[in-house]
Amino acid sequence: MIDHYKVITFTHHLVDIADIGKYQIKEAEPGARVGTIVQELGIEEWMYLNTCNRVSYVIHTRQVVDYDFITRLIRLANPEISQEDLDQIDRYVSLYEGLEAVQHVFEVAGSIDSLVVGESEIFRQFRNAYLQAQERGYTGDKLRLLENMAVQVAKRIYSHTRINEKPLSIAALAGQTIIEKDLPADARILLVGAGETNTLVGKFLHKHRYHNMVVYNRSEEKAKELAATIEGKAHGLSDLVLCHHFDAMVVCTGAQEAIVTQPIFKNMLNGHGGRRLLIDLAVPANVDKEVALMDEVEYVNIDQLKALADKNLNFRRQEISIAKTIVEEALEEFKTAYTQRQIELALSDLPEEIRKVKQKITEEVFRQKLENFSPNQLEVLEEILGYMEAKCIGIPMKLAKKTVK
Ligand SMILES: NC(=O)c1ccc[n+]([C@@H]2O[C@H](COP(=O)([O-])OP(=O)(O)OC[C@H]3O[C@@H](n4cnc5c(N)ncnc54)[C@H](OP(=O)(O)O)[C@@H]3O)[C@@H](O)[C@H]2O)c1
Repeated sequence: MIDHYKVITFTHHLVDIADIGKYQIKEAEPGARVGTIVQELGIEEWMYLNTCNRVSYVIHTRQVVDYDFITRLIRLANPEISQEDLDQIDRYVSLYEGLEAVQHVFEVAGSIDSLVVGESEIFRQFRNAYLQAQERGYTGDKLRLLENMAVQVAKRIYSHTRINEKPLSIAALAGQTIIEKDLPADARILLVGAGETNTLVGKFLHKHRYHNMVVYNRSEEKAKELAATIEGKAHGLSDLVLCHHFDAMVVCTGAQEAIVTQPIFKNMLNGHGGRRLLIDLAVPANVDKEVALMDEVEYVNIDQLKALADKNLNFRRQEISIAKTIVEEALEEFKTAYTQRQIELALSDLPEEIRKVKQKITEEVFRQKLENFSPNQLEVLEEILGYMEAKCIGIPMKLAKKTVK
């Protein structure tokens, strides 16, 4: 029954992200606890989705799922959780049942319910969670049907809405800013800092065909590592002052003071005119205020990029209403597919039963009468019974499917 689908979930909507870990499965070996949970709670099918802002238990069970059930589940998942946390579980958990559970799964897979609306990462995590549960034998027909449809819903949302169109990450926004300035693919772009963020910026730009990047970093070794992945050149940070030709610069280091100071920058310009794009992703800023205000500089800082990220997130949120229509349509399809599948399962013994009837006709009920039949007559009879057999199987299936459409 569709009512047996349940989703027990702890998300950023009700729980501080720092506390979400309390509701995760704590196990020394992956999968070690799941067997006990599934068995003790009478769960027929199971999958477990764990991301940085969500812990979801997607199950199919005939058991009543109430706070007592949820408390038992979480205690088994994390024996170290405090009694106080368990006593307050009703404040933090969201429980979805039946069609609402199905809808919730569709919305999660389609990233409508995400903290960062439209992040496609959740779709990958959802698929992996299912595949992991499947490999371990915790899924069956019911979750297979749910997952199949959720994948279709997510694909439809990504292709029919603009939900993941505008970038939200600081690295992608920095890259996008350079692209939008119409800088040509061979523009010389300096990456100052070779940490995690600038690595993402470099890869983003390289993916968008920029192939004339130069990395400057405190440790030259790390500069070389990044340069190798983006067809770039590498230098130690002290060489930055010697670089006289560049079109844009992305500055992002952990330094607590300005790296691009006025003397360094003036030396870099070396009397050349023209405006340069300076994107400063560091907190605190790595570009001196005086430099940022120079006529030769178009300065973009992290606050401007964050404002752009908020704007883009709002744009994505507006796409949610279109995505919800897709989910509603999919729910109708799911109800039909679910009922059809139940009928298929219920009728799965039909061919064997009909075959037995056919055998009984020839070998028991009419055996004596058939002894007088010639080989030709027997052959015709066999054909007639074969035809009837096929119809007796096909007609009920067809009628049942027609009824649920
Ligand atoms: N607010 C946001 O949303 C946001 C997002 C992304 C980045 N950021 C900011 O971006 C900066 C870097 O972040 P990240 O994630 O790329 O860090 P990361 O992976 O830790 O890399 C740090 C980088 O800074 C360099 N560095 C550290 N201290 C330095 C110093 N005193 N002088 C010169 N270079 C120094 C390191 O050089 P070595 O290789 O030599 O160690 C490395 O290249 C931080 O200021 C961070 O706050 C903020």
